[in-house]
Amino acid sequence: MDITSPVRAYTEWDPLEEVIVGIVDDASFPQWHSALEPVLPHGQLETFRRHGGQPFPPEILRAADRELTEFVRILEGEGVTVRRPEAIPQRRPYSTGAWASTGMYAAMPRDSLLVVGDDIIECPMAWRSRYYENLAYRPLLKEYFHRGARWSAGPKPELSDELYDLSWTEADRGEPARLIVTEFEPTFDAADFLRCGRDIIAQKSNVTNEFGIEWLRRHLGGEYRVRVLEFNDAHPMHIDATLSLLAPGKLLVNPERVVNVPKMFRKWDILPAPAPALPDSHPLYMTSKWINMNIIMLDEKRVIVEARDDPMISALKGWGFDPIPCGFRNFNSLGGSFHCATVDVRRAGTLESYLD
Ligand code: NVA
Repeated sequence: MDITSPVRAYTEWDPLEEVIVGIVDDASFPQWHSALEPVLPHGQLETFRRHGGQPFPPEILRAADRELTEFVRILEGEGVTVRRPEAIPQRRPYSTGAWASTGMYAAMPRDSLLVVGDDIIECPMAWRSRYYENLAYRPLLKEYFHRGARWSAGPKPELSDELYDLSWTEADRGEPARLIVTEFEPTFDAADFLRCGRDIIAQKSNVTNEFGIEWLRRHLGGEYRVRVLEFNDAHPMHIDATLSLLAPGKLLVNPERVVNVPKMFRKWDILPAPAPALPDSHPLYMTSKWINMNIIMLDEKRVIVEARDDPMISALKGWGFDPIPCGFRNFNSLGGSFHCATVDVRRAGTLESYLD
């Protein structure tokens, strides 16, 4: 381990020193593809079929951009170094020979880049619209590598039709979730993993298959244990609206999805997330309202929370945290909140065990 590496993070709560914050430049609806169907909120399928490949509404992007500016101002005011990706064109068509697509955005670095220790890993993402997403981060990745970080990438996926269960239908009530990705090749998004020291918590999802989890397990080697959890979630994609690790011994859970708390957390305080405060009229193109859980810890106390999410702010205060409010509802419309909008580049701290 190179302790001078500019990339280094072992948990979700150690003091945050440097972070990449996404951008909304050119953010566009992904081109329609079957892989979207299991994860889009009810009522959005038609919007995506109709608007795939077109920009998100400009008024939402302008407002989200203002919110990002304020978010960056808050982070810098709290002493965190903020880096931004490069804006790349998102609606320029590309093709691999087997299929063609356009891109989506560089708004959610949490999805595509996974930092574990001093390694920054480009994820083999399952959506065709995200195939080249990491190019927006390449200037930063090159710089981090030159300064001493490890830089890795999952095997470049083919994303051919064999990766998708094209006969996918909703699971019956009470049945386990049906996932649209097959085991054809390894795929995963970083946002299906959480760092908890030597334990890496993972979930299988509509973008992360067993093959991808096993690839990551072998890539990380013996220092880490990748532990796969299952939740009561019929449409899993990204873990941050299901579980949030707030501090050692403090776990925020989605009370609808975490029915039985996994035994590994038996010594932890389990904090049920308050019901989301977003009104039904607020457009959420790609996420459930449980995006209220998608908060970011600056250390074991300070946490950035959506400014109008009074229930979450009160709950966090009651549990002994110091919430810092930041308006982010327009950004939420694009499918994420503070955790999604960021990738932790460096947090202080050392590699420890926190779980049974
Ligand atoms: N797919 C999740 C969001 C994860 C950040 C949800 O819609 O609840």
